[in-house]
Amino acid sequence: MNQAARESTYAAQDLNTYSGISDYYDVLMTNGYYNYDEITRDLTEIIGARQRVLELGVGTGLVAEGLLKQNPKLSLTGLDNTESMLAQAKDRLAEKIQYELQDVTTLSLGRTFEASFSVGGCWYFIDLGERLDFCSHIDDRKTCEKSLRRVVEHLEPGGVLALALQDPHTDYSKPLTDELTYSQAIHNEGDGLFTKQYTFTKQNEVVAEQFYRYLVIPDQEIHDFFGELGCKPLGLNSTRKFFTYQKQ
Ligand SMILES: C[S@@+](CC[C@H](N)C(=O)[O-])C[C@H]1O[C@@H](n2cnc3c(N)ncnc32)[C@H](O)[C@@H]1O
Repeated sequence: MNQAARESTYAAQDLNTYSGISDYYDVLMTNGYYNYDEITRDLTEIIGARQRVLELGVGTGLVAEGLLKQNPKLSLTGLDNTESMLAQAKDRLAEKIQYELQDVTTLSLGRTFEASFSVGGCWYFIDLGERLDFCSHIDDRKTCEKSLRRVVEHLEPGGVLALALQDPHTDYSKPLTDELTYSQAIHNEGDGLFTKQYTFTKQNEVVAEQFYRYLVIPDQEIHDFFGELGCKPLGLNSTRKFFTYQKQ
């Protein structure tokens, strides 16, 4: 699909949301896209004795579920701006966590947290080996910075913000079940932007599709910005799966 055709498809659907693929999200994720056992072990270590925790982009609740298995005493709040994702989290976790249907760009919860994290949620890092790229679901730089400021305002002094690392994105296709195939394609748009195309097909017929445009910021620029927000980088964890900042 060329740029002009993509732009017209973006116009026909809601671009930056997960509603187009939320019905297929879990089958993709639980077929090896993320390793939730490893992720939640690492996060449990990073969170330590902290109790009040905010997940940025809780999605269908897969990380939250794993975290609670590791530490049932956690008081978890799951934030997401896609109603159909949050509805699945509610089905999965019922009263075990609190839910906030909010966009992080206007985050306002009226309470603070000892830790916050994002696993492919609002933000993440792409691991390029010698450096990281900061990757944002909010594709406008000023709005992204405003949102990070709001997150830091919701952290207590000494509180941590942990962002998961991912491998560089590639184009590929893989069967998820006998019937269902997942494909993704990355389209570089220039100016630090790329669009990821998620497609689910059954017998070669597209059953769900979503386009998401991401903003990439070099790691040093984002460390400097966190510095301006009063956060120091604690760096990578021992398994190189998370990068953590701490509010001073
Ligand atoms: C790839 S999913 C990750 C979900 C979950 N953390 C997991 O690991 O399965 C990203 C989630 O972040 C949410 N999200 C993206 N941008 C957001 C924003 N600006 N405000 C709130 N949630 C957002 C999406 O709706 C989606 O549910």
